Amino acid sequence: MSDLQASAPGRVNLIGEHTDYNGGFVLPMPIPQRTTVGLRRRSDGVVSVTSRELVGAARAYVLGTEAHDGSWLDYIKGCTAALRGAGHRIAGCDLTIQTDVPLGSGLSSSAALEVAVLRALRAANELELDDVALALLGQRAENELVGVPSGAMDQLASSLGAPCEALFIDLRSLAIQRVPLPPRLDVMVIGSEIKHALATGSYRIRRAECDEAARLLGVAQLRELGPGELDRVAGLPAPLDRRARHVITENERVLATVDALHRGDHAALGRIFAASHASMRDDFEITVPEIDELVALAVAQPEVIAARMTGGGFGGSIVVLAQGGNGPATAARIAAAYAVRTGLRAPALLAGRSA
Ligand code: GLA
Repeated sequence: MSDLQASAPGRVNLIGEHTDYNGGFVLPMPIPQRTTVGLRRRSDGVVSVTSRELVGAARAYVLGTEAHDGSWLDYIKGCTAALRGAGHRIAGCDLTIQTDVPLGSGLSSSAALEVAVLRALRAANELELDDVALALLGQRAENELVGVPSGAMDQLASSLGAPCEALFIDLRSLAIQRVPLPPRLDVMVIGSEIKHALATGSYRIRRAECDEAARLLGVAQLRELGPGELDRVAGLPAPLDRRARHVITENERVLATVDALHRGDHAALGRIFAASHASMRDDFEITVPEIDELVALAVAQPEVIAARMTGGGFGGSIVVLAQGGNGPATAARIAAAYAVRTGLRAPALLAGRSA
C-alpha cells in the first residue's frame, strides 16, 4: 500500500519544434495517457523503484549517490538529485510506477515520469514548489543526470496542461497562455513505428548548431531574431543558415497557429502545418521518409485539416487536426494506407480530442 499517489500526463506538441531551447514559442497540450507514481515513505535514505514497464526488477539507490547508469532509473535519480541540488530536503521512499504513455513515440514519456515523480516527492516531503519550478526541476533532471540537453517544453506541458486546451508558452519569459481548442476539432496522434532515440546525439547536434548560429549572428538565443533578419541568416555557413531559418520561421508559425485556432481558420492551419513539416524536413532535417509518407497520407483524407511531425524527430509520431467526430475511422484509414506503402503499423496513439 502506498502512502500517496501522484500522476502526470504525456504531451503532444501541436507546433513549435526545436524552438524551446532557443527561447522561442511552443504550443503543446497534454494527452490522456499518464504515468502514476505510488510513494511509500522509508526512514532510511534509500529510494527503491518498482515498475513493470520501465525498470523491470526493483532497483534501488541511496540519496546523494545518484549517478548516470543509462537506464530508466536515471530519470528518477535525476529528480532526486535536482531537488537536493535546489536545496530541498527529501527522505527515502519506495516508488511504484505505472505508465500507459507510449515510450519512444515523441509523446514525452520521460517528462510524464519526471513530473509524476516530482509531484509525489513534493507531496511526501511538503516541499514549497510551484508547478513551473517543478517543471524546471524535471528539465534539470533530464539535462544533468540523463544527459539530454532538452528544452523545458515537455515538463511545462506535463506540469501545467489541462484537458482540451493547448498551452502557448514563451520560453524566454515563461509566460503561458491557455488556448482552448475550437469546437468540433479532433487532435489525433499517429505513431510511425520508427523509434526515435533522443539521447543518441542528433538532438544534441541540432542544439549545438543553433547555439553556434546564434553566436555567429551576435545574439544570445535565436529567439532574438525575427523574419526581418532572414537575409542576414542566409549568409551563415551551411547548414547553420537552414537551422536558424527553421527556428525563426517556426516561431512565426506558432504565433500564426494561435491566431488561426482563435479564428477557427482551418485553411490557415493546413498551410501552417504543411510549412512546419517542410521546414523540419528540408531546413532542420529531422524527419525520416516514413514520417513524410505518413503526413502525406494523412492530409490526403478529406476530413483532415492539417498534419505534421510532432516531437524531437528522427521517427516518432505525427499530429493531425481533423473535422471532429470521426477520429478513430480517419486514423484507421491512414494506418491502412501506411501499411500498404511501408509494411509498418501506424498505431493511433490518440484519436479524438485530447482529454
Ligand atoms: C524533445 C525535447 C523538447 C523539444 C522537442 C522538440 O521533445 O524534450 O525539449 O526540444 O524535442 O520540439
